[in-house]
Amino acid sequence: METASNPRPPAHRIRDAVPEDVPALDQCYPADHAARIRRADGRNARYLVVETAAGEVVGFGRLTLDPPTWMGRQGNRANFINNLNVREDMRGRGFGTALIRAMEEMARAAGCTALHMGVKKDNEKVLSLYTRLGYQECSRYGDRVLLVKRLASGDHGKRPPECPDVHPGR
Ligand SMILES: CC(C)(COP(=O)(O)OP(=O)(O)OC[C@H]1O[C@@H](n2cnc3c(N)ncnc32)[C@H](O)[C@@H]1OP(=O)(O)O)[C@@H](O)C(=O)NCCC(=O)NCCS
Repeated sequence: METASNPRPPAHRIRDAVPEDVPALDQCYPADHAARIRRADGRNARYLVVETAAGEVVGFGRLTLDPPTWMGRQGNRANFINNLNVREDMRGRGFGTALIRAMEEMARAAGCTALHMGVKKDNEKVLSLYTRLGYQECSRYGDRVLLVKRLASGDHGKRPPECPDVHPGR
C-alpha cells in the first residue's frame, strides 16, 4: 500500500551510471563520480543512477556484492549499499526507496541472501527510512550503525544474518 512515508515515485528508470552522467551526479552531491564509474563493473560493483521519465538524473547509489577485498578474511563476505543520495529538491518523492528496492532485486538475482548498509547514528530520518524498508541494526562502529536486511524469501521475522566485522567504505 502506498503511504506518505513510503511514496510511489514518479515514473523513473534505474541504470548503471556512465561518464556522461558526471555533471548531473555532481548536482546531486559532489564526489569523485568519475572514479566510482570507472571502478564499477556492472555486475558485482555497480554504480547506479535513478532518472526521471524525462531522463533527468536525480540520485545515485553504489551496490557492491560479495567484495572479498574489503572483507579480508574468508567467511566474512557481505553485500553493501552505500553512497546513496537523492538531489535535495527531489527528496521525499520515493526515488531513494526505488533505488534501494532495485538494488535489493539485483542482489537477490545475484543469489545474495542479505544486504548491509552503514549510516551515521545521528541520521535519524535516514535510519527510520531504512528501518521501514526492513533493515535492522547489527553493530556499531565509530559514529556509524551497520544495518542488515535478509533478502531470502520465507525468512521474514527471523533474526538478522550475522554481521561482518568490517567498516563499509563511504
Ligand atoms: C536518504 C535519501 C537517499 C532518501 O532518498 P529519498 O528519495 O528522499 O527517499 P524516499 O522519498 O524514498 O523516502 C522518503 C523518506 O526518506 C527519509 N529522508 C531522509 N532524509 C530525507 C530528506 N532530506 N528529505 C526527505 N526525506 C528524507 C525520510 O524518512 C522520508 O520519509 P518521510 O517522508 O516519512 O519523512 C535522501 O534523503 C538523501 O539523499 N539524503 C541525504 C544523503 C544521505 O543521508 N544519504 C544516506 C547515507 S547512508
